[in-house]
Amino acid sequence: MHCCVLFASPRGKESNTRALTEEFLAAWHEAGNTASFHSLYDLAISPCLACRGCQWDWSAPNCVVEDDMQAIFTDILAADLVVLASPIYNWGPTAPMKAALDRCIYALCKFYRGTGEKGPSLWEGKPIAVITTAGYRIEKATDLWEESLRRSCKHGGMRFLGLYGERHRSYTEPFMDEEKRERTRAFAQSIMEQL
Ligand SMILES: Cc1cc2nc3c(=O)[nH]c(=O)nc-3n(C[C@H](O)[C@H](O)[C@H](O)COP(=O)(O)O)c2cc1C
Repeated sequence: MHCCVLFASPRGKESNTRALTEEFLAAWHEAGNTASFHSLYDLAISPCLACRGCQWDWSAPNCVVEDDMQAIFTDILAADLVVLASPIYNWGPTAPMKAALDRCIYALCKFYRGTGEKGPSLWEGKPIAVITTAGYRIEKATDLWEESLRRSCKHGGMRFLGLYGERHRSYTEPFMDEEKRERTRAFAQSIMEQL
């Protein structure tokens, strides 16, 4: 199976979310799977322009914005699993992740011609899993992003498989430890069992 990871922390190798994602991917690869890793802060991902140019082709994303989202659309459509990995900023994902998700919800869901015709969701049935970290108590930090993703998935027909989050308590102590490794691997196992 192939997994498409969208990763969106500006902290690169120092990122807590990246530490969890790498552990997830280690378990994923050990099970014989492949993955591609898109680091959104290192790519050009413009916000959706709301031009609705994508809505006139029901067979492909057909987004008019020529940037790095084009390759990501292709990868998402081919993937058996999409992993969204972002820290929580202001009770939601980081800005590049929000921009990427806005681009997807239009280019991959042909619902918005505004003429009364409803086309297909190109990512209908696509499994989505989420990895996140946050500074506050995890349930109260991640609940709003989780709810918005659950609604997006219901709207576009994707399968929301689960969200895994860990709290970042201090910049002066190491984030990753053995318990987090085990919990990350348990999450990876639960996702693989749902595919
Ligand atoms: C601009 C900004 C906004 C943040 N907003 C929140 C927030 O709303 N809730 C929260 O629990 N943590 C918040 N945090 C803390 C981060 O989510 C936390 O430190 C996270 O582990 C960083 O992940 P990273 O190392 O992968 O970048 C914020 C951090 C920054 C820099």
